[in-house]
Amino acid sequence: MTTVDNSRLSHLREEFERHFGSGAAGRTRVVRAPGRVNLIGEHTDYNGGFVLPVAIDRDVLMIGRRRSDGQIRLYSLDYQEEASSPVDALDRRARPTWSRYVYGVVWALQERGIEVGGFEAALTGNVPQGAGLSSSAALEVATALLLQALFSFSMEGPEMALLCQRAENRFVGVNCGIMDQFISRLGKQGTALLLDCRSLEHRWVPLPGDKFRIVIANTAVARELVDSAYNERRAQCEEGVRILQQFEPGVRELRDVTPSLFERFRDRLPEPVRRRVEHVVKENERVLQAVAALEQADWERFGHLLNASHASLRDLFEVSAPGLDLMVELARRVPGVLGSRMTGAGFGGCTVSLVHAEAVPQFLAQVLPAYREQATWALSGEPEVYVCQAADGARILE
Ligand code: GLA
Repeated sequence: MTTVDNSRLSHLREEFERHFGSGAAGRTRVVRAPGRVNLIGEHTDYNGGFVLPVAIDRDVLMIGRRRSDGQIRLYSLDYQEEASSPVDALDRRARPTWSRYVYGVVWALQERGIEVGGFEAALTGNVPQGAGLSSSAALEVATALLLQALFSFSMEGPEMALLCQRAENRFVGVNCGIMDQFISRLGKQGTALLLDCRSLEHRWVPLPGDKFRIVIANTAVARELVDSAYNERRAQCEEGVRILQQFEPGVRELRDVTPSLFERFRDRLPEPVRRRVEHVVKENERVLQAVAALEQADWERFGHLLNASHASLRDLFEVSAPGLDLMVELARRVPGVLGSRMTGAGFGGCTVSLVHAEAVPQFLAQVLPAYREQATWALSGEPEVYVCQAADGARILE
């Protein structure tokens, strides 16, 4: 089971007590929810398609207990900021912004008819923010699990992931798919999760952790346009569905478009809708091929599929960025790198590479210095590399 560094936990407990007192009120509970990296299957989740994410060993830790006065009181160790709200008057525009993710989950529970009373909680996280590693999903899932521990309602993992997605879509106002919350809740150590985003059927696919490492490289390129571009891509995918429906009424989502159906009607699709549809249709195929490659221990093939996914995101879906393209290119120059691609929504953020365990030192020595030297665009922070472990999904720790 994924373990949590004890010094982080004791620091969290100390800060919680410093803020809220050691209190005789109710038992405190502690939860952990991880960020994620997606191996393949990008911009497929909101098209009812397939994804293959991994929960990573970077997470949000949250400690809390009930209050009897109907107030929510929060403290973020990382921002050294407090937030508070009455449970029955949640505000979508609340400040600081991180508090909206917590309130959003409370709101989504209330909307489901689940009663949540007042509570106080402290939180800390080490998922890099704004890097496309789903720090927001980790915060939502941590909140939902903490509230489940405090208020004892029953809710299975997939249902909790949907609830957190709803909090983000309807309360925070970000139109994301289901992937991030699902993997944060349901990841398993040493595996990637194959998820059918339409049926939510899923299975865990073992990763060859002894031979290969998943290496994440943060380009430190600010993802400023990401929200508007993301919504625009979604709309283009929906337009593709509307057009194809005229020829094939069975098409409800791009998931229903097979490669041969696409070939038959590709000329009916205007640009850029044709390119967007082509990406999604072929990316779905790649996810299934990638799982087969993993299961057959065909690493080379897996690597090629990662590379093909990047090319498609760059040229057809057009969500890459010069920083991502450069990072991918530099990674591929290291002998022992099987494949590399951008991961997450795009426009900045991180790349993911599958790297032979012995090649990791060379990756670390070579890629970042070259990136820093060649990057001609503004960086929002320090580019970084994380060699990550496939970790467990969210857990109640205490
Ligand atoms: C973001 C969203 C996900 C998914 C990816 C792209 O991470 O939150 O739901 O759509 O982008 O694959």
